[in-house]
Amino acid sequence: MTHPKSYARMADTAAGIIDRENFSCERVYADELEKLFTRAWLFIGHESQIPNPGDFFVSRMGAESVILCRDRRKKIHVLLNSCRHRGMKVCRYDEGNTVNFTCSYHAWSYATDGALVGVPMEKALYEGLDKSQWSLIEVAQMTNYKGTIWATWDPEAPPFLGYLGDAREHLDLVLDCRDGREGGSEVFGGVQKWIIPSNWKLSAENFCGDTYHNPSHQSVDIVGLGASPAKGVKGRHDNELADAQHLWISFPGGHGIHSAMKPSNSAYIPSFGDQKIIEDYFRHCHEERLARLGEKARLRPFVGTIFPNASFNGRIPRSLIVWHPHGPTSTEVWRFYLIDKDAPAEVRTFLRRYYMRYSGPAGMTEQDDMENWTYATTGSMGTIAKRYPFNYQQSLNKAREGDPVPGLVSTQITEENARGFYRGWSGYMTDRNWSEIYAAGDRA
Ligand code: FES
Ligand SMILES: [Fe+2]
Repeated sequence: MTHPKSYARMADTAAGIIDRENFSCERVYADELEKLFTRAWLFIGHESQIPNPGDFFVSRMGAESVILCRDRRKKIHVLLNSCRHRGMKVCRYDEGNTVNFTCSYHAWSYATDGALVGVPMEKALYEGLDKSQWSLIEVAQMTNYKGTIWATWDPEAPPFLGYLGDAREHLDLVLDCRDGREGGSEVFGGVQKWIIPSNWKLSAENFCGDTYHNPSHQSVDIVGLGASPAKGVKGRHDNELADAQHLWISFPGGHGIHSAMKPSNSAYIPSFGDQKIIEDYFRHCHEERLARLGEKARLRPFVGTIFPNASFNGRIPRSLIVWHPHGPTSTEVWRFYLIDKDAPAEVRTFLRRYYMRYSGPAGMTEQDDMENWTYATTGSMGTIAKRYPFNYQQSLNKAREGDPVPGLVSTQITEENARGFYRGWSGYMTDRNWSEIYAAGDRA
């Protein structure tokens, strides 16, 4: 049953008006699971988490559990973590290695490619059971993009690169090595997972490029929790973008990216105070990158959201973040930290400590954001509050197409990316076909 109000009206992106019920209503949430999370490409995990045959990592698509695993022939699969007999989870661990998944209820067992291979008392109790028809359910499409695994349940969905469109070069900036070599990143440490009492879209749209929310992090800046304690109050990340033109770019399909363009041949800007090894490493990366990529080295990442719920921090703390829908007012957050495979040990240690100081349930900066999203969700639930929509009118009609990079580009702080996110959202929620969703990405 869809919501009695029309979704196009609940997300009036041309006027910059979004209904509060989008952030708290059970029916909206149910429709998102049905109409959006069954169709969009979703981030599942990273190949570095499953290097060997039999390795698995339990992930999620929407609200459902899936298993990312590598079969005996090293092929990667994404399988619904639900037994075909009565639905029990066939894998109850977060990650590990196995020969097969044996259901703990009645012990049907499945190979790591999803095939049903064992049914207790099969001959005695079943007549001609065709096991090939009862494999674990596998996603319709799966891709490995520079080590990151993405999947969709929709066989009609455009291929992943088509789905990304021009957002691709910004995702590349996150996945490629700091010195400009292609790919080469891996997931570093465990995946942080926690639940926040807020709607998933508030976080996803924030990462589309909500630069306006900087005041939220004032206390972190004042305390000096930046990458270098010696630097004092500034530098929550590093100084790399100090000489850059910030760009907010909205893409068809709902992706929103905040990147920045540095001047040609810009010199390295020191960021790490007296920590010489770290400084030398990042200086080296900067210079190598410039030599390798030339003018292309100017574009630098900051944050972004690949629609619907995979966001990233592109620099420090470099990570992929998934906002798993967990209920209309609950989000399960997963943060995957990334690092170049060949980064030196000192750099790994430094970044690991900084990542924890910044992000995750105990990270100072992330706590600021979580508090905002939690109260914004509560503020979307009140009987009176719900009668009044949110304002998304910042820098309305100021973005320009394709200048200086492909996409709908703003050079001033804007909510264009958030409006673009809801244009994408509304396309799925109103059952548009793929070309309509992508055409609607151009304008409301
Ligand atoms: S539910 Fe899995 S074997 Fe019965
Ligand atoms: Fe923030």
